[in-house]
Amino acid sequence: MDWGMKNRLARIIRPETGRTVMLAVDHGYFLGPTSRLEEPRKTIEPLISYADALMPTRGVLRTSVDPNTSTPIVLRVSGGTSVIGPSLADEGITTPMEEAVRLNVVGVALSIFVGTEHEHQTLLSLSQLVTEGQKYGMPVLAVTAVGKELEKRDARYLSLCCRIAAELGANVVKTYYCDGFETVTKGCPVPCVVAGGPKLNTEMDAFELTYGAIQNGAVGVDMGRNIWQSPHPVAMIRAIRHIVHENATPKQALELFESIKNG
Ligand code: R5P
Repeated sequence: MDWGMKNRLARIIRPETGRTVMLAVDHGYFLGPTSRLEEPRKTIEPLISYADALMPTRGVLRTSVDPNTSTPIVLRVSGGTSVIGPSLADEGITTPMEEAVRLNVVGVALSIFVGTEHEHQTLLSLSQLVTEGQKYGMPVLAVTAVGKELEKRDARYLSLCCRIAAELGANVVKTYYCDGFETVTKGCPVPCVVAGGPKLNTEMDAFELTYGAIQNGAVGVDMGRNIWQSPHPVAMIRAIRHIVHENATPKQALELFESIKNG
């Protein structure tokens, strides 16, 4: 692996722990001004210094992220659909590699929609991105997206998606946590991070999801709503970091969350 690729990957997955807490703020690319991300700058500013990497689109990066930040950026480069359109799976590449390089990002992310009528185009987009990424030393993160079909998130389906993403050359795969998650990570020869998905009922649910993912082979999270839709987003991201980087249990994470929240 070339130096540039290794260096960028080391800025996403921290070499000290081999883990990462990525903060996902790309939801607007198909959801519009989703709850608690209506004004991206206000959501991002208090949290960015606690994230190992931030995942926005180019529009939110340019308008809402301070260019003086030292937090590395993994740029969402796929889209072209909306939540009210005919199919969330009908994505293409929205931002060329040249622009990602100009924006000085450390990785690019796109979604694949395995098992949908658009799987072929999204998988070829992944392959194309990987080919360009290899040219520029740019890691590619593949997101195993499920659109509105959240019930698809089981080990059999996610194992298939993650393995295909890795086979096509993704450097990191972002997927969902599920029962039997160890079969997903075992079958995927590149690092996996988990999304949080829609806001869970309690903080403890998010801590248990994170802990379960780490215990079963994930290198971290790329989490959004369960952090910034919390009434205490800073306490939340710090508690998630405690699990990911310090092997805290969900109970210890909750204790930290409560102490920051009340402090
Ligand atoms: C969805 O496709 C977005 O790309 C998000 O980045 C992803 O779902 C992670 O955010 P959340 O933890 O809110 O699910």
